[in-house]
Amino acid sequence: MKALVLAGGSGTRLRPITHTSAKQLVPVANKPVLFYGLEAIADAGITDVGIIVGETAAEIEAAVGDGAGLGIEVTYIRQEAPLGLAHAVLVARDFLGDEPFVMYLGDNLIIGGISGLVEEFRRSRPDALILLTKVSNPSAFGVAELGPGGQIVRLVEKPQQPLSDLALVGVYLFGSVVHDAVRAIKPSARGELEITEAIQWLVDGDYEVAPHMVEGYWKDTGRLDDMLETNRHLLESLEPDVRGVIDEDSTVVGRVVVEEGASLVRSTVRGPAIIGRDTKIVDSYVGPFTSIYYSCTIENTEIEYSIVLERATIRGIGRIEDSLIGRDVEVVSSGARPRAHRLMLGDHSRVSVAPTS
Ligand code: DAU
Repeated sequence: MKALVLAGGSGTRLRPITHTSAKQLVPVANKPVLFYGLEAIADAGITDVGIIVGETAAEIEAAVGDGAGLGIEVTYIRQEAPLGLAHAVLVARDFLGDEPFVMYLGDNLIIGGISGLVEEFRRSRPDALILLTKVSNPSAFGVAELGPGGQIVRLVEKPQQPLSDLALVGVYLFGSVVHDAVRAIKPSARGELEITEAIQWLVDGDYEVAPHMVEGYWKDTGRLDDMLETNRHLLESLEPDVRGVIDEDSTVVGRVVVEEGASLVRSTVRGPAIIGRDTKIVDSYVGPFTSIYYSCTIENTEIEYSIVLERATIRGIGRIEDSLIGRDVEVVSSGARPRAHRLMLGDHSRVSVAPTS
């Protein structure tokens, strides 16, 4: 069995972070989202992994390499444009051959892995096995309608009037007949070849499409709120581990990881939280559900329920919550007159400034 991991696409919902970098590489609990998927694939005993890459190919390849570090062997497959999930299957045809495969969307995260599913697929060998879970906002997903016997009747991509609250999770297992399906369908109204429609083609052709309910935790991390929520969830089971330096005026409470080379000076970190390697926290408070990646500087600041990416500097800012701060970003206060916010923000940035009373 092979795996096809989708790490192309454009990531419009996480702009401006994804203007310059791949959304699959945004870290949650200080590990890129994509790595959770690759590890789950390796844990399921699948080593032959194709990764679909688009315009962020160089960055993905630099992060994952040949996969040896993860115990997998990676083949990169270039998709010229994000023309849809089924299009990704089309371009991976030579890599996949006629072997069954698991298709894993690189921005999805399933806690608990996929070994059980791969087992189930190997045992019962349907033409497709799809994962479903109840969501409160089904129109943001592919949605499944089940018949009285629990069989799949209809699948619709992002319907305005959803017929159920069962969303398609971004992990699919396929037999080789899916290649006929992706060749048969036409682009949708949004111009993409939809995997949802390819699976509907299988249902209509009386191929066996087995649904599997996801009981555990699943998130599509494509939006800010979901990213922060996933970060919260992962940090809750963090194993405390302090390798950095904590000075005598600092306090660490609860589940906290302080990585190698990191330092805490006159600061408090209240877990669950993770401080990346070579990051400096000075005269600051880091509150629960915060992940600060490597080589950052946090000074005279309070930060909570947030993700900070590598080499960011935050200095003299009263309090930050619910935030995603990008790579090399500087958020600093200055005494310069006139007193004003001085901003240089990327396209699609979002800033919410607390009113000064
Ligand atoms: O997360 C589950 C949902 O994923 C399903 O419920 C939907 O049925 C399915 O269409 C998909 O919807 P999204 O709108 O979330 O897909 P997105 O465009 O975010 O793409 C998912 C991943 O695949 C992402 O890591 C980018 C990558 N991708 C996407 C496209 C369209 C590619 O590599 N190539 C592509 O052409």
